[in-house]
Order: sequence, then C-alpha cells, then structure tokens
Amino acid sequence: MAEHPETTLTQGTPPADTYPRKILEYLEGFLISKTVFTSCELGVFDVLHTAGRPLSAKDVSKAIGASLDGTERLLAACAGLQLLQTHCDDGQVFYSNSDEASIYLIRSSPSSLLQSIQYRSETIYTCWQYLTDAVREGRNQYEKAFGVSSKDLFEALYRCDEEMVKFMQLMNSIWNICGKDVVKAFDLSPFKVICDLGGCSGALAKQCTSVYPECTVTIFDLPRVVRMSREHFVSEADLRINFQQGDFFKDTLPEADLYVLARILHDWTDERCIELLNRVYGACKPGGAVLVVEALLYEDGSGPVTAQLYSLNMLVQTEGKERTAAQYAALMSAAGFTNIQHRLTGKIYDAVLGHKED
Ligand SMILES: C[S@@+](CC[C@H](N)C(=O)[O-])C[C@H]1O[C@@H](n2cnc3c(N)ncnc32)[C@H](O)[C@@H]1O
Repeated sequence: MAEHPETTLTQGTPPADTYPRKILEYLEGFLISKTVFTSCELGVFDVLHTAGRPLSAKDVSKAIGASLDGTERLLAACAGLQLLQTHCDDGQVFYSNSDEASIYLIRSSPSSLLQSIQYRSETIYTCWQYLTDAVREGRNQYEKAFGVSSKDLFEALYRCDEEMVKFMQLMNSIWNICGKDVVKAFDLSPFKVICDLGGCSGALAKQCTSVYPECTVTIFDLPRVVRMSREHFVSEADLRINFQQGDFFKDTLPEADLYVLARILHDWTDERCIELLNRVYGACKPGGAVLVVEALLYEDGSGPVTAQLYSLNMLVQTEGKERTAAQYAALMSAAGFTNIQHRLTGKIYDAVLGHKED
C-alpha cells in the first residue's frame, strides 16, 4: 500500500507543496544581505559598541543620523537576524551587539569584515544585477555595471585607486579567519623561501610567517598594488615579508622553494592558468613546490554551494571559474608539477600542493 505522504511528515511541518520554505528564503536572500550592508554603512554596530551599553532605537537613530521609523525597523530586523540582542526595560526595547557582531561587524575589531562588506555592497552587488547577461554571454559584466572595458581584467577591477583599495581590503579580510587553516593544510616548514604570487597586501603572507617563523615571503604583485600596500597595509616591522613589483605573466619571477597562488587561478581561463603555471615551474627550484589555494568544488560539481556561487561570481567579475581538485591537478601537471595532493580545511578555502622533482 502506498504510504500517505502526510504520515511521514514531522508533526507541524507543512508539506513542501503547500509551503515552499526554501524557495521563499532564497527569493528573499538579498533582503538579508542588504540589511547587513545598510546597518554596517550607517555604523549601527559601531555606535552600539562605542556606547558600551544597550541603546534605544531613538539613541541609535540620533547617533547614525537616520529617521526613527527606519532605524526601529532596521534594528528589529538585525535582532531577528541575531546580529543584535534585545533588552526590555520598563516597556522600552534596548539593543546591543551580539557576540558575532562585536567581532566581525565593528570597524575597530582586528577581525572586522566591514571593509569587505563595503566592497560586496558597492561592487559585487552591482555586478550581480547583470548575472542574467553574464550567464547568457558567458563573460564578466564590467562594461554594463561600471562602464569600463574589461579587456585587461585588473585594469577594470582597479578602475580607480579607491576601488583598488576596497578590493584589497576584501582580499585581506578573509585570511584573518581562514588563513591559518590554509597554510597549515600541508607542512610547509621545509620551504624557507616563499613567493606569494599575486599576494596583494600580504595578509596570507603574514599568516605564513606566523606559522613558519623560519620562512621569508616575497609578495609579487602589480606595481600599483605594491605601492598601495606599502602606503596603506604593511607594517615594515616584519622583516620576513618583502614586496617585489611586476607582472606574473611577463616579468621574471623571484626564485623560491615554494610559490603560493592563492585565489589566482580562479581568475583565469585554463589556457592562462597553464601559461602562469609553466612560468612558475620554470622559476621554481628543483625540490620546490607550488601551493594553490582555492575554494574547491566537489569532484562531481555538486557542492559546496559556496564554491558554486563563487563560480558564478567569477563569471560576473573575472575570466575564470572555481574548479575541482582534479581540475587544478590537471592544470598543475600540464605545467610539469608532480605528486599533487589536496587537503580540505572545512572552511571556504582549501589547498592543493604540487612538487617539482629534484
Ligand atoms: C583575487 S586576488 C588574490 C589576492 C591574494 N592572493 C589573496 O588570496 O588574498 C588576485 C591578485 O593577483 C594580482 N594580479 C593580477 N594580475 C597580476 C599580474 N599580471 N601580475 C602580478 N599580480 C597580478 C592582483 O593584483 C591581486 O592581488
């Protein structure tokens, strides 16, 4: 006898055909992103942090210079999203930051995501308005979104200094959270001379030198990025980290035992990846290696959903895509690397290590 569908449901859960919970949540996912973006832009979490005590909506509205009605709704939504805690006193509601908001959503925290939130809000969100066009055309959408040519990808990404700094802050922010896992995924202690190709402002390099105190890291990046890193990001105190400017597709690469390519290959087509890996192989000392750090897709492409969504983001914003460990291994082995292994970290970014034989 066929089972009655309702008998298999947990009591109180409506059947999927009468209440499409998941789909409704997906359709309105952007409401959540925008609520967080706006709260950060207006400085809600910073105001509550500075106050050091729970505040009413009226206090917050004054401090952020916004309407009382709008602020009340914004704070209520943040409380619903568990980013704020509520305290009732004498019939009035007061708000304070949740533990997570205190760590990640205030400007002065060492693990602040605020600057990366600004890039998501102003740049990525704008690009994603053109996702349909990106899927139809199979290409990034800088021309429509920002009116700039994307013939040179990083000229488009760095279309002005302000945009470049925001991008660099986005790149920086994740390595405070996931950097240690990535550099510890393999024992990198045998590699004393490391080159972080496209290492941006050095956030991952800092994680490397803190885990492996005996190594030195040369960050190789475009001249504009190196200049900006020196002006805005780098403490010259760490003598184990230095910068070299150049184009990794054209210029001589620094000699190293280990080349780190973190979130580099996902920007480029397979052909460009092999071109770059060939150059890395040529520069690498025998016995050396290349460490590719990326958000790996499962081998059958069925997840993780973060990597699947990032791959769409790569379509909208770059010339590349996210790949599986086997796809990265194929690119690395096409360039000559052998003994290629990968390690999952359980967080967003994973590691693939390939060796150059002695
Ligand atoms: C997606 S970001 C990754 C940054 C960093 N590795 C990380 O994971 O945070 C790509 C980096 O490659 C650099 N880059 C792009 N094209 C380059 C080139 N032709 N030569 C050197 N660096 C380049 C960019 O400036 C940027 O810092």
